Amino acid sequence: MSDSAAANDGGKLGSIVPAGFRLVSLDAVGSTNEEALRLAAEGAAPGTVVWAKEQTKGRGRRGRTWESPPGNLYCSLVLRPRRSNPAQISFVAAVALANAIAALTPDELVQLKWPNDVMLGTRKIAGILLEGAEGAIVLGTGVNVASAPDGAISIAAAGGVDDVETVLHRYLSEFSFWYRRWEQAGFESIRDAWLARAAGIGRQIEVRLPSETVPGTFAGLDAEGVLLLGTAEGVRRIAAGDVYLLDRSAA
Ligand code: BTN
Repeated sequence: MSDSAAANDGGKLGSIVPAGFRLVSLDAVGSTNEEALRLAAEGAAPGTVVWAKEQTKGRGRRGRTWESPPGNLYCSLVLRPRRSNPAQISFVAAVALANAIAALTPDELVQLKWPNDVMLGTRKIAGILLEGAEGAIVLGTGVNVASAPDGAISIAAAGGVDDVETVLHRYLSEFSFWYRRWEQAGFESIRDAWLARAAGIGRQIEVRLPSETVPGTFAGLDAEGVLLLGTAEGVRRIAAGDVYLLDRSAA
């Protein structure tokens, strides 16, 4: 991440992003990930943050739509990691987001659901979408700040802050810390921090894959971030899928 980067806003928005980030602020865009991928292909520096007040084509994991009305946070960060296994950045971001949301919400129960959903209790409050570009990674983050879709929850509804700028600043500060840790020391401490907030460890879960649904016990993560599922046939390693907690009291 560049430490000489400056906001491109003439200084007005400079305090929204911590040192080391360069802000590209937009009123509206199709998808901040799409825009960040475009900028990355043009050579944007690591630490470039595309932030939009609303998205018209926000995208979620697995081709889903991410509802993106004004009032919530939509941002995408261009990264050029030196480490192999850039997929681990989604765990770095999940830990950073969880810490930021916990600091800005009176509710203590901020949890992580594999691979990288951030939950308040049993309801989703933020999501992460990592996409690759030529020589770069784009880390997209959506946080329900002022409002949330049905079944989800927002920071404001939980009694926390309702301004996006505060959430963006806190998230990027946390991300900076955890990303540096990952770059310098590797995945282990990220994995530990992620597990400390993990929802459903040791409990019954169901992992939905494109071709099957696998029930089992959530046994943890391996050294790469792969989910370990205890099944009747032994421990199964799952690299991608959607987790559902079967025992809600586990959350
Ligand atoms: C998920 O499905 O949980 C991931 C949601 C990621 C949404 C964010 S909003 C900012 C960035 N731009 C997008 O189009 N998607 C991500």
